[in-house]
Amino acid sequence: MAKIPPGVGPRFPQVVVLFGATGDLAKRKLLPGLYHLATAGFIPQCRVIGVSLDDIDLAGFRQIARRALDQFSTRKVTDADWDAFAHNLDYVPLAAGAPALAAAVAAAEASLGDETRRLHYLSVPPSAALSAVRMLGEAGLVERARIVMEKPFGTDLASAVQLNRQLHEVFSEDQIFRIDHFLGKEPAQNILAFRFANGLFEPIWNRNFIDHVQIDVPETLGLGQRSAFYEQTGAYRDMVVTHLFQILAFMAMEPPTALEPQPISEEKNKVFRSMLPVQPADVVRGQYGGYRQEPGVDPESETETFIAMKCFIDNWRWAGVPFFLRTGKKMAEGQRIISIAFREPPKSMFPPGSGVGAQGPDHLTFDLADASKMSLSFYGKRPGPGMRLDKLSLQFAMHDTGLIGDVLEAYERLILDAMRGDHTLFTTAEGIERLWQVSTPLLENPPPVRLYSPGGWGPKSIHQLVAPHAWRLPFERAWRDPNASGG
Ligand code: BG6
Repeated sequence: MAKIPPGVGPRFPQVVVLFGATGDLAKRKLLPGLYHLATAGFIPQCRVIGVSLDDIDLAGFRQIARRALDQFSTRKVTDADWDAFAHNLDYVPLAAGAPALAAAVAAAEASLGDETRRLHYLSVPPSAALSAVRMLGEAGLVERARIVMEKPFGTDLASAVQLNRQLHEVFSEDQIFRIDHFLGKEPAQNILAFRFANGLFEPIWNRNFIDHVQIDVPETLGLGQRSAFYEQTGAYRDMVVTHLFQILAFMAMEPPTALEPQPISEEKNKVFRSMLPVQPADVVRGQYGGYRQEPGVDPESETETFIAMKCFIDNWRWAGVPFFLRTGKKMAEGQRIISIAFREPPKSMFPPGSGVGAQGPDHLTFDLADASKMSLSFYGKRPGPGMRLDKLSLQFAMHDTGLIGDVLEAYERLILDAMRGDHTLFTTAEGIERLWQVSTPLLENPPPVRLYSPGGWGPKSIHQLVAPHAWRLPFERAWRDPNASGG
């Protein structure tokens, strides 16, 4: 077992109450994540109580959990580790009600000693989330508890405000952990390290040197079993108002006074307060051909499966710098990049045909894929006579550190942080409400959806949206292969 540094795990034994324990997210991420945290020694004293609508017993839940681990865990599941983990599982069908849940938690706590903490994880749709919150209240499980909520946190400003009000009737804000798993990704946190641990880039991290920014998250995935959810949600609510805006905040925020929850939330919320309302004319909504034929989808659906947009942060650092955001389903490639385009220098000293500026501006690129990479591209002289310029790049890959095995998956990292009561990588009610507020013009007046072919980059009008710039993706030059020798 790897040695876990002190202070990384929670101080107290944990009882996790997992609502939606047989659902898709629980199977793909939460059960494998809890299994890894438990077997790697991060949470040596932890019991997990599954709750769901399924009328199964503990043996049935164990079977579902084991299958989920076999299918989705990125680490090997050994029988010995599984036995230890399975021993700490329990199950309460939702229909058994609050008293049964209270009894299961009491039994789990009795087995763990006096000083235990509760982590309620709501991996359920919004309507079910509120009834789960009420059930927790009725069962008397609010004390010594933290609650992790999954998006969507409302669907517009009014519903978000109402949701927060209802939540606050049972849990106080400091007990609530609104998860945005993009912030749990190692490379997202590396944006903060890169920006604030180095003197090199922060002085030029502003409108005087940066021309525009792109946050581009195309996905090749379709909808799988999620079309009913997605039909009500769409790409903007599923990805932009959540993940892409959170990443934008890390990229754009002022240096916080400390790397602690309060100062970081303050700076992120300042970015959101400075955002200009999203204008429908700055948005391209797309829908892939064939979406309307998917099961559970309205044959006349206007739900977008793709969105590209321009937004602005109207403060001293960023006024006038466009931020282009794009994401969609069934696109040509799966990528998660932030690309920062620097202003170009005067080029008149170079002879015509030298190639200066011909391949776009200098770029700093963050690849937020799990095996993250960074690149800084610049012009350099092509070897030989005369002055011909080529686009070159400095590249770093997380592989280079040799520590890729230490990376925690986003959900693992965030579950651990919630158990420790650390809000740094979670979103706040204030931030979310502000994001719905800036979204209001778009939500009230969405432009019509335009068709795009599956396997493409979105509708044609995305090019007008970024003109005179161009989308960075697809990349003109491939990343260097970190495994190739000689580089
Ligand atoms: C989820 C969205 O929050 O994030 C999905 O609901 C999306 O639609 C997913 O596919 C992308 O996350 P990741 O970590 O797989 O890039």
